[in-house]
Amino acid sequence: MILVVGGAGYIGSHLVKELVETEEVVVLDNLSTGHREAVDSRAIFVKGDLGNVDDLIMVFRSYPIKAVMHFAANSLVGESVVDPLKYYNNNVASTIMLLKVMQRFKVKNFIFSSTAATYGIPNVDIIDETTPTSPINPYGRSKLMVEQILADFSKSYGLNYVVLRYFNAAGAHKSAAIGESHDPETHLIPIVLQHLLGQRDKVSVYGSDYETEDGTCIRDYIHVTDLASAHILALNTLLKGKKSEEIYNLGNGLGFSVKEVIETCEHVTGIKANVEMADRRPGDPARLVASSQKIYDELGWKAERNLEQIITDAWNWHQKQEY
Ligand code: UFG
Repeated sequence: MILVVGGAGYIGSHLVKELVETEEVVVLDNLSTGHREAVDSRAIFVKGDLGNVDDLIMVFRSYPIKAVMHFAANSLVGESVVDPLKYYNNNVASTIMLLKVMQRFKVKNFIFSSTAATYGIPNVDIIDETTPTSPINPYGRSKLMVEQILADFSKSYGLNYVVLRYFNAAGAHKSAAIGESHDPETHLIPIVLQHLLGQRDKVSVYGSDYETEDGTCIRDYIHVTDLASAHILALNTLLKGKKSEEIYNLGNGLGFSVKEVIETCEHVTGIKANVEMADRRPGDPARLVASSQKIYDELGWKAERNLEQIITDAWNWHQKQEY
């Protein structure tokens, strides 16, 4: 059985929907940001907190867990600057608790959700796993700290793990049953689509004077279902004992500017957006684009869905929501 911590969240719930096809799954989530109804009915759901050792012990006692996939984290850069304690507590301290309970129950396989925010402001156009990490906010630092803890645990205790550094997760399940639902929403694609549905007056572009082709920030958008398939490949290689300590970037390898994303949303929906240029948002690097060559070479994974598909799936889901 596979334990998915944070399996009611955006990325976790998409992974669970794929994973239940081949594995028995138990989800542990405190529903602080996740949604109970997003968890596939074929998975067992336990409401509980990663930071609560009793909740963890109860799950490990109740189910024969052979691997843990960890999606339960706070992930807003701005919030992490205002409230770093929340990030170090929920993202670092709680993960240590989880690893401690795994050790007690002799569970050795771990997949960890990390982020492009570990790279900070890179000085290369295409980021690969050898690009130096230098996070510029507590969120990115909290994820990098866990990566370092994992490396030490691997050497000392024989933990087998894979770290997946996501670039910009976006899109929704092709069934439109689950999608991206944050409160508050800060991400570009849902904000634009909510605007096009009449839920917001306008879209603000945070900065148009960056050193990029059109002056707006460039990001690498990756479909949440492509992320899910990477997790399943990583899990299978861990379970076969083929990998013990790896870090992989997950992106499309293509960069799109904020303006290009808005134009693609207009194209997919056939609706024109009301766009205003605004000040830069603090902490935004100009350009974050991944090389995912390493995971292609080693596990045969590559992103299959382009920006238009991402936005089409997201749009199908957003149209079903009652705002
Ligand atoms: N943006 C706007 N207007 C908006 C919202 C976003 O112009 O209303 C811009 C941002 O300034 C940025 C781009 O759109 O340039 C993408 O912003 P998102 O908030 O969608 O995503 P981020 O790149 O800021 O964040 C994502 C993840 C983080 C992770 C980060 C790594 O959500 O968890 O990538 O850099 F830390």
